[in-house]
Amino acid sequence: MGRILVIHGPNLNLLGQRERQIYGQTSLAAINQLLCECARQDGHEVEIFQSNHAGELVDYLQHRGPQADILIINPAAYTHTSVAIRDAILAVNIPAIEVHLSNVYQRESFRQHSYFADIAVGQVAGFGPHSYLLALQAACYLLQPQVDDSAARDSSG
Ligand code: DQA
Repeated sequence: MGRILVIHGPNLNLLGQRERQIYGQTSLAAINQLLCECARQDGHEVEIFQSNHAGELVDYLQHRGPQADILIINPAAYTHTSVAIRDAILAVNIPAIEVHLSNVYQRESFRQHSYFADIAVGQVAGFGPHSYLLALQAACYLLQPQVDDSAARDSSG
């Protein structure tokens, strides 16, 4: 059994109402419920946190990161701005999967730089709410005892 932390950044509490043409109709509560159900089916535990404030996200990572095995994070707008959240992930030394609902690489140029991409095990972007389920699938794969994330990064097999 693994412990999976899921962190949602600013404005993701408004999913389902906010820019639906970009982020879809599904609420954050519905995404969270699906994540919990799918993780449970794989025998894992999920803990979820959302905040609109960078400091709260840093505090949460410092407090809960050390107890977790893997992190799924959608830093939202902080993706493109926050060295502090990046440093918190490095400080607690937790493998992270970066998630975006939208394909940030098809959008404004300021969204095409991520402070997390180079420290993440991998990134999922562009599949709407399903991005989170794909990230969860990747987390479950990485939590298998025989897999370590350096192997996951080695595409040469
Ligand atoms: C987002 C993309 C970010 O650029 C944006 O600021 C968000 C959501 C996404 O999930 O597509 O709030 O992280």
